[in-house]
Amino acid sequence: MNQADSPTTPEFSRRNFLRFLGRGGAAVAAASLLRPLGLAEASPASRPTPRRSATGLPFTPIQPTSKDELVLADGFQYKLLASWGDSIHSRGDSFGYNNDYTRFLPLQGQDNNNGLLWVNHESTHPIFVGGRTFSQRPTREQVIKEQYSVGGSILRIQRKNQEAPWEIVHNHRLNRRLHARTPIPLVTSRPIAGKRVALGTLANCSGGQTPWGNILTCEENYDEFYNEIVINKGKRTYRDPVSYFGWETQFPMPPEHYGWVVEINPLTGQAKKLTALGRFAHEGATVVQAKDGRCVVYMGDDTNNQCIYKFIAARPGTLEEGELFVADVARGRWVSLDIQKQAVLKKRYKDQTDVLIHARPAAHLVGGTPMDRPEDIEVDPKTKHIYVSLTNNKSKGNYFGSILKLEEENNDFLAMQFKASTFLPGGPKSGFACPDNLSFDRAGNLWVMTDISSSALNQYPYRPYGNNGLFYIPLRGPQAGKAFQVASAPVEAELTGLSFSNDGSTLFLSVQGVGSRSRSLKDTSSHWPLGGTHAPKPSVVTIQGPALKALLRQS
Ligand code: FEO
Ligand code: CA
Ligand code: CA
Ligand code: CA
Repeated sequence: MNQADSPTTPEFSRRNFLRFLGRGGAAVAAASLLRPLGLAEASPASRPTPRRSATGLPFTPIQPTSKDELVLADGFQYKLLASWGDSIHSRGDSFGYNNDYTRFLPLQGQDNNNGLLWVNHESTHPIFVGGRTFSQRPTREQVIKEQYSVGGSILRIQRKNQEAPWEIVHNHRLNRRLHARTPIPLVTSRPIAGKRVALGTLANCSGGQTPWGNILTCEENYDEFYNEIVINKGKRTYRDPVSYFGWETQFPMPPEHYGWVVEINPLTGQAKKLTALGRFAHEGATVVQAKDGRCVVYMGDDTNNQCIYKFIAARPGTLEEGELFVADVARGRWVSLDIQKQAVLKKRYKDQTDVLIHARPAAHLVGGTPMDRPEDIEVDPKTKHIYVSLTNNKSKGNYFGSILKLEEENNDFLAMQFKASTFLPGGPKSGFACPDNLSFDRAGNLWVMTDISSSALNQYPYRPYGNNGLFYIPLRGPQAGKAFQVASAPVEAELTGLSFSNDGSTLFLSVQGVGSRSRSLKDTSSHWPLGGTHAPKPSVVTIQGPALKALLRQS
């Protein structure tokens, strides 16, 4: 979701900036992370179209465009798999709104033409879902409709053979919705805001998968639904007069019940909120296994000047307990958020649960480095290097963002030291702006999706980049580190949640936020995917084709 213009964006702290720059002997050259982005360079010369023969790639990259279409390079074709409101089960379950993270899950005893697809539903829309305008406070019935539209979908999908289109097996017993009305236990040592069970999951942006086959779905901009709590002179009050969606006006759920990573068993739908991983605007949760079998999870807090985190599980096979660390990027070290190890936390918070609820301010107290909106994180399966999207930070004059690379000491996920460097800056040089979602294909090449805020698309300084896009970046060979555009999103949309089928032959892609700035059902800014005068619908598509096949063969 586009969050760059969020009213919650804090001003960049000059003190933090100076502190960041002033750390001598840093493992990273601060200048490489804080690349100044003068707007003078904001206007790239129109990108030359490299011909296939010139790139050695099996497709000709597309040019930026503002078309209201999912435009793909030759050799890639898309098909709709699921759109907002599609029935997935006759018991009344339908596909949610603003699909984001996707993950294909093979089923035991089944071939590559069968599986489950998990899909996040990040946000709702007052006009298309609630049937109200942005300025209208919702009725109880409207909130209930909107609550149902977020969370996640589990879809049983199949195809006849590798060339055939994927389809949802309608009414399959494994088809299921989790949403903002599903009761979900909090894994916690004590009640949070008086309870051990939260009502629902929401703001489900990106996610991850555990080695035991469960899904992690991440609650990102939770404050848009039930507001946020601040403690003012010892009193617990709402931060804003009313939140973006205003649900708290009908259902005053405790904001502390949201902003967590949620683990879900896709076969049973059983869910739990993993409080040990901290509470903040969780973009995603990228899980790797350390050499001793324990899981390590890398996470970004997608807000201006917020931090990058890593969680090390206490034992193999579970994420319920462990230690949370924040990245001091300037010094190249992970800093513990364990109250027993940090006097400054012990002084401020009453127990570890309190630290986890307030992980964001706690991270700053122990020296976490404020970053430029850390969004998706992926680990290169070949080198174990960690790639982090830093989308942008307009408050610091960073309009185009960058991709940061972290290298753990000795490539050990348990290391307490790392090296950081800019892998690729966004902007005229690379040809993309505002990197957000990342995915590795099985050949070890990087796919990047951009998130230019819908209110800024096709305007200065983003005009040359057209609509949001999908880019392919080879990491090896003569084109290593160059970005080639594969797809362009429809009007106001963001391409997110790219994942691959088990055999790599199909790419699942979410198209969300389409026509998000529409004024009414009769006056919509997009008509994708149905065209004509139809209202826009966020949808998941499958992408197949000879270019994808050749790419994976080639690498
Ligand atoms: Fe939901 Fe940070 O994107
Ligand atoms: Ca985003
Ligand atoms: Ca995102
Ligand atoms: Ca990803």
